[in-house]
Amino acid sequence: MSDLENLQSQILSQIAAAPDEAALEAVRVAALGKKGAISALLATLGKMAPDERKTEGAKINLAKDAVTEALTTRRDVLKTAALDARLASETVDVTLPLRETPAEAGRIHPLSQVWDELTTIFADMGFAVAEGPDIETDDYNFTKLNFPVGHPAREMHDTFFFNPKEDGSRLLLRTHTSPVQVRTMLGQKPPIRVICPGRTYRIDSDATHTPQFHQVEGLVIDKGAHLGHLKWILHEFCKAFFEVDHINMRFRPSFFPFTEPSLEVDIQCRRDKGEIRFGEGEDWLEILGCGMVHPNVLRACDIDPEVYQGFAWGMGIDRIAMLKYGIADLRQLFEGDVRWLNHYGFKPLDIPSLAGGLSS
Ligand code: DAH
Repeated sequence: MSDLENLQSQILSQIAAAPDEAALEAVRVAALGKKGAISALLATLGKMAPDERKTEGAKINLAKDAVTEALTTRRDVLKTAALDARLASETVDVTLPLRETPAEAGRIHPLSQVWDELTTIFADMGFAVAEGPDIETDDYNFTKLNFPVGHPAREMHDTFFFNPKEDGSRLLLRTHTSPVQVRTMLGQKPPIRVICPGRTYRIDSDATHTPQFHQVEGLVIDKGAHLGHLKWILHEFCKAFFEVDHINMRFRPSFFPFTEPSLEVDIQCRRDKGEIRFGEGEDWLEILGCGMVHPNVLRACDIDPEVYQGFAWGMGIDRIAMLKYGIADLRQLFEGDVRWLNHYGFKPLDIPSLAGGLSS
């Protein structure tokens, strides 16, 4: 076998053995590239005598054609094989059930949902959100709110007290969100328009009471703030919160040390086979306490009652959540049962908004 035939059969077997397109390309470059073996042979033609060039040139070109053709054939085979392998590895079974993403699988607790709903409603009316600590002083929880030391009204709240300090003062778990009123009035100048949602604590436990519960307080202080404003705000709130066009409310005289006059508010409803409808019916449900801020409270918070007046209200978040979403036992809110949460919870991406709907 001549050297040329040897070279040709060597290259052809390399082509046949190339496992993929990259290896095949390497064989091509080694044979036909600028410095390839066949290109090198072609370069020798220039130095040959014309006769020899003719015969040798024809042979070398035949070898080159054979190699070129073998390369093309092998490349097609490798391309098809690569595509088949990819198709086999990338199959998708479109009949498989969809898996819920983590965000879709989680649920927002009804209390968090109601908390978001009511801040959305009051924010729309121009209220800011104020916060205070769960552990309060006796002064902020009681005294500055016009519960004099030793006054029986303090007994209305079954308070969790901490052990007395050396100076005799005692911290406590706040029994209502009203101390946030005090902190707000001491911390900023009127006009004031805030709501204060938060955790509250009392020694109490049955189907309608838990030792820890939630309230939202509202406070407006301005020169001309009056009961008419309060009634309008509460009325608008109830319509928006219960998502009805019309609601009847009843304002009854009551007593709280920090307001004068004080009122309790009921909303009209109908109970029907375990369901409650608002804005109709014969029943009345108490939902909140409110009133004009007592001058003693304003004075205790460095606000001159001769110049400013205001109103406030306090409402149980747990209670309005239960009413709105048909939850029968308050304790279920705190049990952390995921089956319950899957039923009563809300999808995390359905954020309440007045335009998009609060609960849908
Ligand atoms: N702090 C009261 C309670 O927990 C609720 C309340 C009633 C708050 C009337 C107020 C109010 O701001 O004006 O029982």
